[in-house]
Amino acid sequence: MKILVTGGTGYIGSHTVVELQNAGHDVVVIDNLSNSNELSLQRVAEITGKKVDFYNIDIRDFNALDSLLNNHNFDCCIHFAGLKAVGESVQKPLEYYDNNVCGTVSLLRALNKHNCKNIIFSSSACVYGDPEFIPITEDCPKGKCTNPYGQTKSIIEEILKDLQKSDSNWNVVLLRYFNPIGAHQSGKIGEDPNGIPNNLMPYITQVAIGKRKELNVFGNDYDTHDGTGVRDYIHVIDLARGHVCALRAIENKCGFEVFNLGTGHGYSVLDVVHAFEKANGVKIPYVIKPRRAGDIAVCYADSKKAKEKLGWGAQFNLEDMCRDSWNWQKNNPNGYNGG
Ligand code: NAD
Ligand code: UFG
Repeated sequence: MKILVTGGTGYIGSHTVVELQNAGHDVVVIDNLSNSNELSLQRVAEITGKKVDFYNIDIRDFNALDSLLNNHNFDCCIHFAGLKAVGESVQKPLEYYDNNVCGTVSLLRALNKHNCKNIIFSSSACVYGDPEFIPITEDCPKGKCTNPYGQTKSIIEEILKDLQKSDSNWNVVLLRYFNPIGAHQSGKIGEDPNGIPNNLMPYITQVAIGKRKELNVFGNDYDTHDGTGVRDYIHVIDLARGHVCALRAIENKCGFEVFNLGTGHGYSVLDVVHAFEKANGVKIPYVIKPRRAGDIAVCYADSKKAKEKLGWGAQFNLEDMCRDSWNWQKNNPNGYNGG
């Protein structure tokens, strides 16, 4: 298939481009590079041996999308482009609603105009809010998101649902990601956060490399086996392959479908710290801090639906994720800026 990948220079996008190319798909990437580096696609080409067609386009720029779509016939769009920093979204809600929601509407108008009515969207487990039950199935009711970033995901889901309802030629797959970590085994591409990392694994790897003194563990008084927060960490390669499998649903004219992409295993913050130390032989000093506002105690997926309907399941375990995260950080101490 010929696939348009928005946000394809970013963390999950670049790994997905590798898996799409490996599966024989033809890929075009657009990105405004607001949170990424074009070098990631050069690295993708080193991995796959195939050059990636790239355009610097902001998805809010309808005219730019229109002329791109005049020149290419896409079978499907995989839509990663968006801002994703939870804390920043609380400070700058308008930027998040404009970029993520208005950007998606602009993209959908362009796709609709050019009759490309197939889309796979990067949603998030955060749409479940504080989940009504665990493990979380796709039937779990959506909850109250505690920040504008999460709200944008939930709103975009509803927009896509309404669009598909209005025109059954549209096929929409919502993929609700749990917690992606890890990197490609080559160590050539990985997560390259700006400034102080918000997320657990990039913070741990920066402690390991000596950029940060110690990990702050946000709360040890949750109702979990060791008191620290439990999440469903998934290897980014497994997540990327989930998109390749989701293309099958699109090919089968699925209409509107929602899938959780998680492993089904919950690990605490301290489980991850200990797994990282064991996998890599590096000590991670940590201090216990108060809970982080908006965090929930436990979040992990039931991902049976993806297994049954897409034939997809996670292959990598926590040790693999810790090893590959560290391999990327060690090889690229300053991310892509190191060259
Ligand atoms: P990322 O920031 O690495 O990638 C997003 C990409 O989108 C970046 O390259 C950025 O430059 C680009 N972008 C942002 N706004 C754009 C715009 N207006 N026009 C064009 N390009 C734009 O983030 P990621 O971790 O790879 O996440 C990819 C998607 O998955 C995002 O939509 C994110 O919200 C979603 N998601 C991520 C996680 C996670 O933990 N990483 C979890 C759930 C969902
Ligand atoms: N944590 C720490 N110290 C840190 C960072 C995180 O203790 O420095 C803890 C958190 O309190 C939480 C766990 O590690 O218990 C995971 O936190 P992350 O920030 O890595 O991930 P979240 O589960 O909070 O959120 C992530 C993404 C969201 C996405 C969600 C579900 O940031 O965008 O997963 O997919 F919506």
